[in-house]
Amino acid sequence: MVDCLSEREFELFRHLVKKHIGVSFARTKKAILQRKLASRVNSLGLESYGEYYLYLLRDKEGGWELRQLINTITVDQSAFFRHPKQFELLANVVLPQVAIQKNTTKKLRIWSAGCATGQEAYSVAMVVNEMFKEDHTWDIRILASDIDTNALKFGYKGLYSKKSIQQIPIEYLNRYFRKGTGKDSGFFLVREALKKRLLFRRLNFVDFDFPFRSPVDIIFCRNVMIYFDIEVKKRLIDNFFRLLERDGFLYLGASESLIGVDDRFALVGHFTYQKKG
Ligand SMILES: C[S@@+](CC[C@H](N)C(=O)[O-])C[C@H]1O[C@@H](n2cnc3c(N)ncnc32)[C@H](O)[C@@H]1O
Repeated sequence: MVDCLSEREFELFRHLVKKHIGVSFARTKKAILQRKLASRVNSLGLESYGEYYLYLLRDKEGGWELRQLINTITVDQSAFFRHPKQFELLANVVLPQVAIQKNTTKKLRIWSAGCATGQEAYSVAMVVNEMFKEDHTWDIRILASDIDTNALKFGYKGLYSKKSIQQIPIEYLNRYFRKGTGKDSGFFLVREALKKRLLFRRLNFVDFDFPFRSPVDIIFCRNVMIYFDIEVKKRLIDNFFRLLERDGFLYLGASESLIGVDDRFALVGHFTYQKKG
């Protein structure tokens, strides 16, 4: 058991976390940060937070421990068809509009930015597939990115519990999932045909070194910005603006907004924005 996190140690870790992942821990969240740090300190067999801080600074394994800390700190909660109205908007307004805009190049690029364990990206993929399944002339790619490598592994595997698939419409479930067998029995596996539309990648919003060759048509960045302060939010949205196609769409989470962050987007509805001209 390690002692209480001192104020000075809290400040040191707070800055470290902010610098590496952009997440701001308010003073009121000290106990949460302490709990997360304690789990790393204990698993390394260290004696104090100070020792752990030095361990991170001298990490001889090229940032391996920092990644473990990041994986522990991030909140990777997600769900299939979270905020269902946004997916209705995707099917009925956003995709039909993008399909017209991109009808000459027939290239569609979607980014689930902060995809956590993959449910958002697979939900998008199902809706996209429903719309384009008859038309094989389209080149469609969905990038699913996150900073948390454990979450990405989970998403890539595509194995979900019975409880987590309950939000998926039954006809989609039958079409895009199969029942697990053996050790996976009681779970549902994403079928390869859907999986191959997705590319899982580790990307850190703080690095801003995004590997895009062509502009992105639709970005989902939902329930991610709530953890950032205004300065990080502004930089992130500025990058999204730059990466988005003209008239491209940006989906945010239900408790997020662009008010006071960026005025170069128009609200379409359901926390969904469109880049202005
Ligand atoms: C609550 S989940 C949101 C999942 C999904 N977008 C949804 O709404 O269901 C937030 C995700 O943001 C990711 N995240 C936090 N900071 C990040 C950063 N600096 N770069 C990339 N992803 C980050 C976390 O790892 C976590 O998986």
